[in-house]
Amino acid sequence: NSIFSPPSLNPTMRWIALFGLVATASSLPRSVRNANYAALAADVKDDDLELVFATALWRHGDRAADHAVPGREQFPEDAWTFGGGGYGELSPEGMAAHFNLGKRLRARYMDKYSLLSPTYNAKEIYIRSTDYNRTLISAYANVAGMYAGTGVTGQNFPAAELIPDGEWPVGYIPIPVHTVPYSTDFVGHPDSTCARQDELYALVQSSAEYQNYINDPQIAQILVYLSNMTGTDVTIENIGVMQDPIYCEQRHITELNETGATIEQFYPWFFTNDIPEWADWIDEKADDFADGIANPAGVNGIDVSVEIPKIRAGDSLKLLSSNVKGVLACRDNSTISSCRKFYENLKYYAISAHDSTLLAFLSLLGVKQYIIPAGGVNYTATMLFEVYEHKETAERSFKVLYHASEKDDIKPITSFVRGCSPLENVCSLSVLDDLVAKYAPETDMATLCNTPVFGGVDPVTGTVTSPTNSPGTTESTMPPTTSAVSALSLLSGAFVIAISTLRC
Ligand SMILES: *[C@@H]1O[C@H](CO)[C@@H](O)[C@H](O)[C@H]1NC(C)=O
Ligand SMILES: *[C@@H]1O[C@H](CO)[C@@H](O)[C@H](O)[C@H]1NC(C)=O
Ligand SMILES: *[C@@H]1O[C@H](CO)[C@@H](O)[C@H](O)[C@H]1NC(C)=O
Ligand SMILES: *[C@@H]1O[C@H](CO)[C@@H](O)[C@H](O)[C@H]1NC(C)=O
Ligand SMILES: *[C@@H]1O[C@H](CO)[C@@H](O)[C@H](O)[C@H]1NC(C)=O
Repeated sequence: NSIFSPPSLNPTMRWIALFGLVATASSLPRSVRNANYAALAADVKDDDLELVFATALWRHGDRAADHAVPGREQFPEDAWTFGGGGYGELSPEGMAAHFNLGKRLRARYMDKYSLLSPTYNAKEIYIRSTDYNRTLISAYANVAGMYAGTGVTGQNFPAAELIPDGEWPVGYIPIPVHTVPYSTDFVGHPDSTCARQDELYALVQSSAEYQNYINDPQIAQILVYLSNMTGTDVTIENIGVMQDPIYCEQRHITELNETGATIEQFYPWFFTNDIPEWADWIDEKADDFADGIANPAGVNGIDVSVEIPKIRAGDSLKLLSSNVKGVLACRDNSTISSCRKFYENLKYYAISAHDSTLLAFLSLLGVKQYIIPAGGVNYTATMLFEVYEHKETAERSFKVLYHASEKDDIKPITSFVRGCSPLENVCSLSVLDDLVAKYAPETDMATLCNTPVFGGVDPVTGTVTSPTNSPGTTESTMPPTTSAVSALSLLSGAFVIAISTLRC
């Protein structure tokens, strides 16, 4: 059923054929799942409920590329000058966006809900960041926005007698941001080293869903095309390593090249025929495999849709739940021993992290497929988890909200969370306990990661498994392999039109 006879096609004609195929497929509506987020209503305050605790999990702001586009050296590390200079640093736009997000959070938590005092109180807030410059600086910028203009001289910063007039940045309130080392940070880094996760991902790769996906003729053709153009082996796991720096360069092209050259001039092979959209789409699908949600029925008797989220987001869930319990224990009775000092006045706990962190957490909650707009997790995208107490009945509940981008409102997504009712605006705290029972690691992460899924024996082949790397996410710093592929070998094979099956 091939519509082409490859031997008679010269290379140009093959590309035309490929692009025809890509263009036809791309014109189909691929984003049915994204309709929901855009249609969601903004949050409405319920005056019967008192907000008692809030957690924020956000992505850092706009940044420099993490590395060059594989096989292309146009924009090396020293081309990136902002945010301290070099790869991966937060840009001034990223700082501004987090500052504005901080102002938005102030509007919610100080003005609208009176959760926080109008001036900085060290006992009320705790800010944690991954140990990356861009997430740390995002957090500084965010709290700077949150408390901008609220500072009191002699309280929040030194008076003029101590610092010569005008030298202290006007109104600047230093606010601590805590961090932990990368290797132990399973709250911020779903991709921290974990043998068990590698084993589970190898299992995903052996699944019919994954094999059908990578062997889909259209996907395979695009990977072959991009491999040929970059001279590297582009796979669904590492396509982000190529696509992500192009995205960052695109956003900063006028600074990177002051001649007015456009990004399309640098990568004409990429900016053609919906290749950018396809690359995004393939990368997002790769995220779903990585997060365990593309194999809802499990693989070889292992429920990867539980086991993988447990590793990638279980530790964050555990932290979230213990914070909620800690705060509520003190609220119930601040003199009992289960009320720890740290929680006595805690109102707000924020985590400054990465797109992979948000994707993993939203996947665990079961909301990812409904609320992530096309293009993945935007810079400064934020998930909020809020605990309420009914003013009369004292009944406790929670809300989950998502802020997809600077352009979007903070929208409630509670009804999409596993176990929550689609008919209620809030969800019972018992659902949080259910999630913890199912997804929180029973042990510490080191123990979990050293627990083999099958005692180290591959159930398919019976051989001892040699774990492969789990896939890079959009922010992976994993270098792609440089082995050249015989790129056109697939193109000379049969083209099979398979556009009638939408994959999501
Ligand atoms: C962050 O800062 C450190 C020095 O504090 C530097 O070595 C590193 O290259 C910077 N960039 C990233 C992405 O961590
Ligand atoms: C890409 O394809 C062209 C045309 O067939 C071929 O000449 C070239 O060697 C390929 N490049 C790589 C890196 O595979
Ligand atoms: C900027 O773009 C022009 C035109 O494409 C090119 O000649 C020049 O080398 C580029 N400069 C840098 C610094 O990339
Ligand atoms: C709080 O706990 C203390 C110590 O157990 C107890 O004496 C006190 O009555 C409790 N207060 C309330 C309001 O329950
Ligand atoms: C970011 O958010 C906007 C608005 O919700 C959305 O249209 C866009 O696709 C998102 N993704 C990216 C990568 O910009």
